[in-house]
Amino acid sequence: MSTEPSPASNVISWMQADAEHTARWFSASGAPAPKKVQVVDDSLTADDAYRLVAQGTALLWQGDYHNARQLLSAIARRLPTFSRNDGEDVAKAFYRYRQGRTQRARMLGQLLVPLEQGPAVALRRAPDVSQAWLAAAGPVESLTVATLQDVLGAVGAYEWRRNGLFIQELDAVIHPHYGTFAPIRSEYLALVAQAKLPSTELAFDIGTGTGVLAAILAQRGVKRVIATDSEARAIACAQENLQALGLAQAVEATLANMFPEGRAPLVVCNPPWLPGTANTLLDNAVYDPKSRMLKAFLTGLKEHLEPGGEGWLIISDLAEHLGLRTREDLLLWIGNAGLAVVDKVDTAARHPRSMDASDPFFAARSQEITSLWKLSAKA
Ligand SMILES: C[S@@+](CC[C@H](N)C(=O)[O-])C[C@H]1O[C@@H](n2cnc3c(N)ncnc32)[C@H](O)[C@@H]1O
Repeated sequence: MSTEPSPASNVISWMQADAEHTARWFSASGAPAPKKVQVVDDSLTADDAYRLVAQGTALLWQGDYHNARQLLSAIARRLPTFSRNDGEDVAKAFYRYRQGRTQRARMLGQLLVPLEQGPAVALRRAPDVSQAWLAAAGPVESLTVATLQDVLGAVGAYEWRRNGLFIQELDAVIHPHYGTFAPIRSEYLALVAQAKLPSTELAFDIGTGTGVLAAILAQRGVKRVIATDSEARAIACAQENLQALGLAQAVEATLANMFPEGRAPLVVCNPPWLPGTANTLLDNAVYDPKSRMLKAFLTGLKEHLEPGGEGWLIISDLAEHLGLRTREDLLLWIGNAGLAVVDKVDTAARHPRSMDASDPFFAARSQEITSLWKLSAKA
């Protein structure tokens, strides 16, 4: 279980004008402070910047903020692009694709900017990032160095949070916080909004994120929902959303590893859909290392279900199409946990990537089915 935020909070040092300088180091992904740091400004060409980051030198920017953004884009354009090899196994190709994404994030994460109290980016023409940075990383007490990527990530997330996401199933807006899974795919929400409820007395929502599924259940008339998440920032986000929706009385959002105490007639869980290592904060919602959360849900479900109760597992089969998990694996884990499949409701993927023929994994994405598996304890 982690608490927020969990940056690598150590020190970064660099040489400038023959003197050693230090600052606090912040990295949202927990990356350690770079060892080789060169101070650079607007006079640096994109080719030289690319050469330096490729050699593992981090660039501490001291020029114009907008030029730094342009330089970041210029470095990104020089990075190798991913393409599938003829006849390559899909799982191997996906592994290579993810390695490429990690490498890309590492390279782009070498353009650094200074932050000072405010919080503010201590650069010429820098925009006001104070609210965004506070929401993502908290106050800046003293000179801090972070990646420009992290600053842009915080600003982007804050926009999302402010604007919110209209959820048709709720006829209302959900505001995702920084680092909290945004329910941008509506297919799975519709499954939870439409499946027949086994009871309206009590439900558990395991890994609630923004609180969206708990809100759908409460709006459908479930009198009490206990929603858990292992991330403090998700619990804060869910509480804020439930309050704004007028559902805070019905839903208790609480920090916990998986299940709350006791049993319920309905236990819902939407774990990350792909097995794999999470390399960034946002990866946490998509990748479930070693299928840990999926397996924890299945193995713990039986002892948290009331007699005759239903566990609703929401998961897509994209992992199966990518060769990362088989249907047999899933059925075996369900059976080994003393569970039986009562029903399965399917829906086809409708999100833009599933229709993008230029995506290197289009064949897998276009076949993706999202399912609500209704599970019960085996007699
Ligand atoms: C894919 S997101 C789903 C969020 C939300 N239920 C939804 O459908 O939009 C998975 C959530 O599970 C949470 N999570 C991961 N491991 C957990 C654990 N061991 N116990 C509780 N929550 C966990 C994550 O923090 C994340 O919010």
